[in-house]
Amino acid sequence: MRFEGVSYRYGRHPRLALEGLSLNLEAGGRYALIGPNGCGKTTLLRLANGLYRPCSGAVYWQNQPLAYDQSALYRLRQEVALVFQNPDEQLVGGTVAEDLSYGLCNLGLPPAEIQRRVEETLRAFDLTDLADFPVNYLSLGQKRRLAIADSVILEPTLLLLDEPTAFLDPGQTRRLRELLGQIHQAGTTLLIATHDLPFVGNWADWVIVMAQGRVVLADSPEAIFQDRRRLRELGLD
Ligand SMILES: Nc1ncnc2c1ncn2[C@@H]1O[C@H](COP(=O)(O)OP(=O)(O)OP(=O)(O)O)[C@@H](O)[C@H]1O
Ligand SMILES: [Mg+2]
Repeated sequence: MRFEGVSYRYGRHPRLALEGLSLNLEAGGRYALIGPNGCGKTTLLRLANGLYRPCSGAVYWQNQPLAYDQSALYRLRQEVALVFQNPDEQLVGGTVAEDLSYGLCNLGLPPAEIQRRVEETLRAFDLTDLADFPVNYLSLGQKRRLAIADSVILEPTLLLLDEPTAFLDPGQTRRLRELLGQIHQAGTTLLIATHDLPFVGNWADWVIVMAQGRVVLADSPEAIFQDRRRLRELGLD
């Protein structure tokens, strides 16, 4: 995925949320997106998924500029899945198993295949015991896990995650890191917006640092975390 000189403004907000941002994500990478509150991480992910449209510049997926008609967006979102910062925006309801099967039903997969994938994903995300539990009654961390599972089950080419470790306990954070490792091994490119710097250091192979709607640094985690003075200037140390 490629961003070329992308700017975005919310309504008539006086400041641009993204300002001439360029970015290139290679297939197979594990990218972390970091930066202070309000720098534009969530906005960038929503542009990548076609939820927002740039006011100038363009977003490219597999070398084609995004098209914004319903059917093009539907196709894009099978390949580029976004896990929202707030799981309540994402979960469709019913029971955990129903919520998981929803996207697969929309794809028109055969019932036996849906059942197989749902069972496999329930196991992978430690949700088997909650399969028949109403989504509304899940804890925040459980909702977060289900929201991630909802995207992973679709087997996207590029998976975008907005603060996936928020609300997770240390055990579940570790488990998520393992799972993301497996998903990456299976060929999915990952871009994760996060404030969890230890997670970034352990997991990413490339770190993109944003400030005020722009990319200000992009390098290996080792190089990024060595430049303590720069990180402090950016409010990240
Ligand atoms: N719906 C909206 N309407 C107006 N301004 C918005 C809206 N959503 C975000 N913004 C503004 O756009 C800028 C970027 O916000 P964004 O949510 O992308 O930041 P972020 O890097 O994800 O922050 P955080 O680390 O807090 O999640 C901020 O200044 C924010 O106030
Ligand atoms: Mg955000």
